[in-house]
Amino acid sequence: MKNKIAIMGAMPEEIAPILQRLGSYTTIEYANNKYYEANYNGVDLVIAYSKIGKVFSALTAATMIEHFGAQKLLFSGVAGAISDQLKVGDLIVATKLAQHDLDISAFGHPYGYVPEGSVYVQADTTMIQLANEVASEMGKTLQEGVIATGDQFVANEERKNWIGSTFAADALEMEGASVAVVCDALKVPFFILRAISDAADMDASFSFDEFLETSALESAEFVMKMVDKIVD
Ligand code: ADE
Repeated sequence: MKNKIAIMGAMPEEIAPILQRLGSYTTIEYANNKYYEANYNGVDLVIAYSKIGKVFSALTAATMIEHFGAQKLLFSGVAGAISDQLKVGDLIVATKLAQHDLDISAFGHPYGYVPEGSVYVQADTTMIQLANEVASEMGKTLQEGVIATGDQFVANEERKNWIGSTFAADALEMEGASVAVVCDALKVPFFILRAISDAADMDASFSFDEFLETSALESAEFVMKMVDKIVD
């Protein structure tokens, strides 16, 4: 049996290029959101944007798996760079993800940790390997790194540097780690790809507004190439 694949983003701009590429799809309203289903070269896809943040993205990921039956999940979107090696438009794939705003350090626990959880969730290595093959076929540079997630648009050098040093993180965004927690718990292999839209500094909101669409497209095109490979 071929896999049913979920493709998700957080914002409309992050999935628009994917829906455009598919051309025709069915729209299903469920749990206060819209889900789009399509058959793509013989494989069933379910596509959605969750809305911004950890709660909405966890809800959408869980719905795609539990209600729509997705057996793999690919996330496409934009991120703020922490690493100096990442510039606007560059692609980063998460090797592991952490929640930078999860904090019970008052009880002596590390940042990002709660009892019976773990600071990091590891992404699927097979899909990362596939991504490296796609990158070399496309002649694109793909960086691997740690992604830190929190319910906060970071536009502050100090906060960004704290996240970078506390979690050894290369990029930050607002959904990856929550999607990772859901997929890990439900044993669904997942892949989190981001194209850089800003540097999470004082100019971040302007840079984000300027580059959201082009960076989201960059990420979406890569994810569709991944789907092509998986479907093959
Ligand atoms: N996604 C893209 N840029 C971001 C930022 N600076 N903070 C949080 N999420 C982001």
